[in-house]
Amino acid sequence: MSSYRKRIAILGATGYGGSELLRFLLFHPNVEVVRATSRQHPGKPVHTVHPHLLKVTELCFEDVSPEEAAEGVDLVFSALPHGASQDSVRRLPASVKAIDLSGDFRLKDPAVYRDVYGHEHNAPEQLGQFVYGLTEFNRRAIAPARRVANPGCFATAALLALLPLAHAGTLDGPVALVGVTGSSGSGAEPKSGTHHPERAEAFRAYKPLVHQHLPEICQELSRAGAPEARVAFVPHSAPMVRGIHITAILHPKEPLSLETVRSIYHSHYGDERFVRLRNEPPDVAVVAGSNFADLHCRSDGRTLVVLVALDNLVKGMVGQAIQNMNLMLGLPEHAGLQFPGTRP
Ligand SMILES: NC(=O)c1ccc[n+]([C@@H]2O[C@H](COP(=O)([O-])OP(=O)(O)OC[C@H]3O[C@@H](n4cnc5c(N)ncnc54)[C@H](OP(=O)(O)O)[C@@H]3O)[C@@H](O)[C@H]2O)c1
Repeated sequence: MSSYRKRIAILGATGYGGSELLRFLLFHPNVEVVRATSRQHPGKPVHTVHPHLLKVTELCFEDVSPEEAAEGVDLVFSALPHGASQDSVRRLPASVKAIDLSGDFRLKDPAVYRDVYGHEHNAPEQLGQFVYGLTEFNRRAIAPARRVANPGCFATAALLALLPLAHAGTLDGPVALVGVTGSSGSGAEPKSGTHHPERAEAFRAYKPLVHQHLPEICQELSRAGAPEARVAFVPHSAPMVRGIHITAILHPKEPLSLETVRSIYHSHYGDERFVRLRNEPPDVAVVAGSNFADLHCRSDGRTLVVLVALDNLVKGMVGQAIQNMNLMLGLPEHAGLQFPGTRP
């Protein structure tokens, strides 16, 4: 491999996604972050917003257009909020590769996008150019792609739980999907829902049956041969900072033994670096800070339960995006992502 380090730009680098992209990419052996944009902090060193990066990098934020940010770089990450992201990403030159972390290019149908996000899509003609970046299932399409839509954090966990069953033709009945997320899922901007006195000890459901990741989950299950899957998704906010936990409960028409279920998951994930099959229920604390998704399944023959835990900011966002970047730039898929997390 050549010693040339691929040049990377980050749009929206002051947010939590930007923070995590910097944390991983500054230690990536094959890439160099050359630009980090911010409207609010132009000219300031990145450590003024991300204090853990003092003495790690001299990089400063810049307030530049997407076109300027893309000059001379190999790949652009957009870590902007949805809406703002499509306005920027649509302006990037076709010659520069891009990965969008927002929900703007995940849904293929602009009418579904409008229903979910409450506004028209500004670049519907570009939706077809984006590959859905669920690495473990789409890597053959991701590697040659110029545009990748990185999956949502809940969608990543839910699809890792359900897609093996869809591919095996056993996702043939209703699916109850219970999700739990930490507060970092709402981004760096303070809101009442992330305000410590209100959030620290709260545990509550939100957006039952109408969370924006549900159409994304159904779209991908349909592509995998389970268009009739009826998924009822109820997300919850939990008093933790990082973490996604998904519980999927199913009653397959044909009873599935635990042995059969295990062999289905083993055939998909046995050789995967970042998906670990656990003998016990997974724990968000064990995967925090890492790019691992831990999965456990149980079956009593009639009822099947699949549990997944991952870090929303890593496997549910930036880590998966770096897996995709590595594929798109011809680098080893796991490069820069070996960190195992912390314990305790
Ligand atoms: N947090 C998660 O767990 C998670 C997981 C998966 C995907 N995502 C998605 O990833 C994206 C980034 O998430 P995040 O949590 O990093 O968000 P965030 O913490 O709110 O950061 C958003 C960034 O975008 C910039 N920005 C905000 N509004 C803008 C606008 N109108 N135009 C241009 N720049 C704007 C902000 O910086 P300045 O104001 O300084 O410009 C900030 O750097 C979002 O689309 C989110 O839905 C988040």
